[in-house]
Amino acid sequence: MLKNRSVVSIEDVDSDDLNDLFDLSDSMLRTIEKGGSTDLLRNKIMATLFYEPSTRTRLSFESAMHRLGGSVITVSDVKTSSVAKGETLADTIRMASSYSDIIVIRHPLEGAARLASKFANRPVINAGDGSGQHPTQTILDLYTMRKETGSIDGKVVTMVGDLRYGRTIHSLIIALSKYDVKINLVSPQILRLPEYVYTKIGDRSRIKEYDDLSSVIADTDVLYVTRIQKERFTDQNEYQSVIGSYSVDGDLVSKMKKDAIIMHPLPRVDEIRPEVDELPQARYFKQAYYGVPVRMALIYRILGD
Ligand code: NCD
Repeated sequence: MLKNRSVVSIEDVDSDDLNDLFDLSDSMLRTIEKGGSTDLLRNKIMATLFYEPSTRTRLSFESAMHRLGGSVITVSDVKTSSVAKGETLADTIRMASSYSDIIVIRHPLEGAARLASKFANRPVINAGDGSGQHPTQTILDLYTMRKETGSIDGKVVTMVGDLRYGRTIHSLIIALSKYDVKINLVSPQILRLPEYVYTKIGDRSRIKEYDDLSSVIADTDVLYVTRIQKERFTDQNEYQSVIGSYSVDGDLVSKMKKDAIIMHPLPRVDEIRPEVDELPQARYFKQAYYGVPVRMALIYRILGD
């Protein structure tokens, strides 16, 4: 049950919650596709606090709240808020929670959303905390896999790119460890999955690590590509050594199963070539589209009756 609860980590959402959210997302999607909105959350206010760049996540949260009949107040540029005067996160959160019913926060520091949830007397949703987690992206990623391939169980999921700093990866692997899937992790040595994520998962027997895609691409059902995140590197020489490590192009996709799918949380830089966008396996724009119905479902479960 998510009623009045914060979602800071994907572990805050259990498998019953997930199944319920998938069903509710289907119904929210039907509402959107009929061109409609609802007034389920009329009179409710969402505060969105984005201390890091975002396009999809912020817009889809705000669109979701509007489609639920609620309204949104936002700080998208911290330079224009009192943060620029030196206000602490704790004080900003205390204020935001006195002006709203739910807070969505993105912050460059790992643990910031957890901290925010301690100071807020409203539910807090983590929209990405540094290299930590991005639980709502994971809910929409799982929804996309289920919708676009029929099921999550039984699949071979290959994740490629920045597994070290990628918060979408951390949340997704933790969630997938509860399903019957095989996971291939493909990255340069210095961008391997952090040990603490393995510790959370426990059983690592269904996860294998590789340096390149060649030996796993033909067996893959879901290829989950991520951006190498320049902004997370403290040593720019390290970044230079891995830039452009992977590129998904038409030639690589021709080696994939016909019914495999390619996902990416976006934004992409050069890790998926534009020619792939037209291929049937490409689902990353569809995935981004599902962000609205999935976030409608989540916000409604937290704030609704
Ligand atoms: C991701 C993020 O911010 O973690 N994007 C997103 O939310 N869709 C991935 C990224 O920035 O590379």
